Amino acid sequence: MMMPLKRLVKHVLNICGYTLYRNHFSLVTNLYNEDGLQSIHNHEFMDDPSFISAYKRGLKASSGVDSRFYWRAHVVLWAAHCASKLKGDFVECGVNKGFNSSAIMHYLNWNVLNKSFYLLDTFNGMDQRFLTEEEMLQGKLEINQKILDAGGYECNVGAVRANFSEWQRVHIIQGSVPETLPQVRTEEIAYLHLDMNCAIPEQRAAEFFWPLLVPGAFMLFDDYAYKGYDSQKVAIDSFAHRTGVTVLALPTGQGLIIKPPFSIQK
Ligand SMILES: C[S@@+](CC[C@H](N)C(=O)[O-])C[C@H]1O[C@@H](n2cnc3c(N)ncnc32)[C@H](O)[C@@H]1O
Repeated sequence: MMMPLKRLVKHVLNICGYTLYRNHFSLVTNLYNEDGLQSIHNHEFMDDPSFISAYKRGLKASSGVDSRFYWRAHVVLWAAHCASKLKGDFVECGVNKGFNSSAIMHYLNWNVLNKSFYLLDTFNGMDQRFLTEEEMLQGKLEINQKILDAGGYECNVGAVRANFSEWQRVHIIQGSVPETLPQVRTEEIAYLHLDMNCAIPEQRAAEFFWPLLVPGAFMLFDDYAYKGYDSQKVAIDSFAHRTGVTVLALPTGQGLIIKPPFSIQK
């Protein structure tokens, strides 16, 4: 069947890197179209040599596998850079091979900062005990097994330690969140990244770390608004409601809370 002319023109222009803006026939170049996000807005961060270099270090950690989530990485690096100006340590729950954390440490020249980075992961994929019934029904366990079988989740903690060996004050904590949370030995946190792809561990980690976050600290959720991760959004919204804050949904699929520098009226 023939494609209608307008759709055909749109299709050809898209392939060539152009888009039709609001169906007007004005051409917009330099479209960002990655990772579920299409935007005509400025994304010149992608040309920033320090961004490129940090992203490359992330790729080195993930053995060159590129998920092309540039705008998400931009958000991660921005939050980490802001957090580096605060007192307090960094924490990531859900590390895998270390893409994001390696990019951050490279970007911030970690060894000159007097901060610790706590990295928590089972290094064995999801823990069935901490999946909700809804997540089980959605087939998350089967997806998890497929990723493990394909080598997408890192099970060799030795390889992870080797990746991070160039940096000081890195604490790799193997085991299931929430059970391992008390092993994070810090009184103050400036940056918390939650990226475990499941609701209960993320909610429990958010609750556990909230009192330790310094005013102005960044709590970033990798999947908060991401399509197909609704259980996480429900769990995080419930945490936020009880805490008296709200989550900023980002068009990248991430969610962000900045801890207010004042006491919260619930
Ligand atoms: C999407 S990956 C993390 C990606 C990582 N942030 C990066 O920068 O590449 C999700 C990770 O969460 C881990 N994970 C899932 N459930 C967990 C739990 N209950 N406790 C600890 N880690 C968990 C998995 O083992 C997996 O490595």
